[in-house]
Parts: sequence; C-alpha cells; structure tokens
Amino acid sequence: MTKVIKNGTIVTADCTYKADVLIEGEKIAAIGQNLKGDQTVDAADAYVIPGGIDPHTHLEMPFMGTTATETFESGTFAAASGGTTMLVDFVLPGADGSLVNAVKDWDRKSAPQICSDISYHMAITGWNQGIFDEMAEVVKRGINTFKHFMAYKGALMVQDDEMFASFQRCAALGAMPLVHAENGDVVAALQEKFMSEGLIGPEGHAFSRPPEVEGEATNRAIMIADAAGVPLYVVHTSCEQAHEAIRRARQKGMRVYGEPLIQHLTLDETEYFNKDWDYAARRVMSPPFRSKDHQDSLWAGLAAGSLQVVATDHAAFSTAQKRMGLKGFPMIPNGTGGLEDRLAVLWTRGVETGRLTMNEFVAVTSSNIAKILNIYPLKGAIVEGADADICVWDPKISKTISAASQKSIIDYNVFEGIKVSAQARYTLSRGDIIWADGQNSQPQPGRGRFVPRPAFSAVNQALSKWKELTAPRQVMRDPANIPSGV
Ligand code: URP
Ligand code: ZN
Ligand code: ZN
Repeated sequence: MTKVIKNGTIVTADCTYKADVLIEGEKIAAIGQNLKGDQTVDAADAYVIPGGIDPHTHLEMPFMGTTATETFESGTFAAASGGTTMLVDFVLPGADGSLVNAVKDWDRKSAPQICSDISYHMAITGWNQGIFDEMAEVVKRGINTFKHFMAYKGALMVQDDEMFASFQRCAALGAMPLVHAENGDVVAALQEKFMSEGLIGPEGHAFSRPPEVEGEATNRAIMIADAAGVPLYVVHTSCEQAHEAIRRARQKGMRVYGEPLIQHLTLDETEYFNKDWDYAARRVMSPPFRSKDHQDSLWAGLAAGSLQVVATDHAAFSTAQKRMGLKGFPMIPNGTGGLEDRLAVLWTRGVETGRLTMNEFVAVTSSNIAKILNIYPLKGAIVEGADADICVWDPKISKTISAASQKSIIDYNVFEGIKVSAQARYTLSRGDIIWADGQNSQPQPGRGRFVPRPAFSAVNQALSKWKELTAPRQVMRDPANIPSGV
C-alpha cells in the first residue's frame, strides 16, 4: 500500500520547494514531481513538514502527591491533532529507586495507549552504586539522556556532587545530561518566607522563583558539565539570565542547548495575579511565566540559534488537583499543558509575525531536537528512507483555542481564547494517517512504538579529546601554577 502526498510545498529546516512525497509502508520512498500512489493525501495550498517532536512531556507522572491527568492515550492523540508525531516523556524512578524498573513501568503504561511514537529521558533523583550501574543498562535500552532536577528540594532535587558524578557517568556512557535549572535551596527558603508573610496565593509562586535562581543554576550546571566534559541540555529555559549563560557557553565552544517552552514564549507573569484563584493556579509551573522582556530574549534566541528547541513540558493537572494548593502555593502541583497547541501557537506568534522563518519553525519544532537526541534523519526530516512522520500544515485553517473543543482530557487550556491561524490538515505517523482535520479522527491506541536512541559516543569522545588538549590551560589557571611576577 503506497500513499502520495500531492501538490504541497515541502518545508524543511533548510529549504522550501514544491514536490510530492511517496510513502511505501512506514517510510518515505521518494520525493519528486508527479508521483503516484494507491492513496492520495491532498496537500494543495498547504505545507508538508516533518511531524512535530515534543521532547518534554510528563504523561501520567506521579508528582507532588498526585498523578498528572493526561494519559499516554489522550496525550499522544492530542499531540497528533496538533501536528506532533513524537513525544519524549520523562521516566521517574519509583519507591525502589531502580532505573530499570522505572523504564519497565513506563513501558507498561505507555505501550497499550500510544497512537504515535515516543521515547524517554531518564530522571536521576539521587546517587548510589545501583544508579551508576543501571545507567549503562538504561543507555543499552535506547535512552541516551538523563535529567537532573536542581529544584524540588526534599523530592526530586539532586546536589552538585551527585550531579557531577552523574554527568561524568553520562560522559563515559555517551549519554547527555539534562537539567531543570533552578536553585532549589533558594526557592525553598523563599517559599517559606512568603508563606510566613501570608502571601499564600499563586502569585507567591512567581515571587519565589525569580529569574536569578534560574540563571545561577544554569551557570552552575554549565560549569559542572564543562568539568565533566559532557554536552548539556537545559530544559524549559525561561529567562534572559539562563539564556545569557547558554549563549556565553556556546560562544566559548561548549555544547550547551536551550529549550524554551511555548508557554514561556507567549504567556507572561501577570497571569499569576488574576483574581480567579483557579485561573492563576492552572498556570503554576516551574520556572514560572516571566515578563515580556524575557519573552523577547527567548524569541531572539530562537532566531539567532542560541536556543534550539521549542517544547511544552506538558504536565497537565486538573483544576481539582491544582486545588491541593488552596492553603499555600507550594502545594499546587507544578505543570501546564500545551502539546496540542505548540505548533499552532508558535506559527501564529512566530512565523506570522516575522519572528521566525518557516524553516526556523521546522528546525525548532522537530529537526533540531532530532539531531540533538541522535535520531536524525529517522525522525525530524523529509528525506528518502526517513520514517513517514509528516504533517500537512494548513496555513488557512484558523481556530480559537478552547478547552471545550480540545482533545486533551484536561478541563482547561492555558491558551484559552488565543486565535491561531494554522493547523494540521493531516498528521501521518510512520505512513498512517492518525489525524485528519474535520474527519472525526479517532486515536488508535497501541499503534505507537518506543524509539530507541543510540549513545553519542562520537561526540563525547571528541569532547574528551578536547578536554585533554586544553588541560594545560586549566593547570595554568590554578594559582599554584602561575609563575611569580605575572
Ligand atoms: O512545573 C513543571 N515544569 N512541572 C513538570 C516537572 C518539571 O519540572 O519539569
Ligand atoms: Zn523541570
Ligand atoms: Zn518537565
């Protein structure tokens, strides 16, 4: 059975051209003019782009005394309806602390439910010999990224020495560390201070997590990664202070990547001052939404290439769950949604306004992250041999975002009321149409697959070599080695 996507304009991260795409089974078989197939997918007046990859989701995540409501079934279907064909979800170790058991647990939950492909990042939430040993097994299972929380004191947070040990282990295994960069000690102290002063509402959340705590942690993580000789990916980069640290590191030749979220690009801190407690609490996430200056910095970073990826950090808790924090903002489950709307909002606020080109849009929604995660061009590309994960993106279907019509099972939407000017006409996952606008598409639970991601041995070896070459300069920085009189 073959399909041909006809009469569209292909937009990739580096070029734009008119051509048909022939799909044989799960793969792109040919790209050219006047191609024929058993079935035609109409792309006239539309763009043909790689399916979106959202590298930051928390589906059914146990967190802050509850479990995120969005399921693997509803999450992958909601994503598909918005043009996203792959999610990378975070695996958290359970009570036994075993990484391998946690992966098995995530497989058990996700496999029967997913309608598109997924992959995993593994969270490192402590440090011991068992974790050191199991990291190798996790990499063998196709997980080449390990996330470290520098915040959430008393829960997921790791200390600097644990992070350094884990980063070194990543370097040895050809894996890449990820960080949630906020100074968790300062956040905890500020939470206590504001609570004791009676500032217990959602606005206290923003006050307790100022941009400086994110900037400090980002700088610290970069330094630790540099010392360990490993690349670094900073998740949910939300402010100029963190962006500045990433920019500076990259300028020095360090492999540091930054991931703004669509929420931080478009929603600002005034949301936390809404008089409606539910409204404000639904928007509580970490880092919090920032001021417009910070948004400008993030947009500039995407255009300039100092920030590479737009994600969602989809961690969707219902209003009832948010109300666990009625007696104090530190108890509001942290997280917001966005995986259904990421492409449409970024297109409308980015491409339509001239802040991003169409090719940059593709780069930051799929191709860059596929490269960073070592699955390019299997995913994130429109080339012969790639998986046929494709979105027919229609720049003429507008809508006003509303919880009432969304596919996500959450009872609200943080983008409620925003008018978007483009949407997915069709979404294909490995050649299957899993979303067709206006055709009442239904999810096909269980058809999605886990995508293993190979280790980055070549990059890390190169970095280790670079470390060796620059070692004498490090020695020269040690005061004991500076010749007298200099
Ligand atoms: O508030 C957030 N971001 N919740 C999800 C967990 C995390 O920190 O990524
Ligand atoms: Zn985080
Ligand atoms: Zn997250």
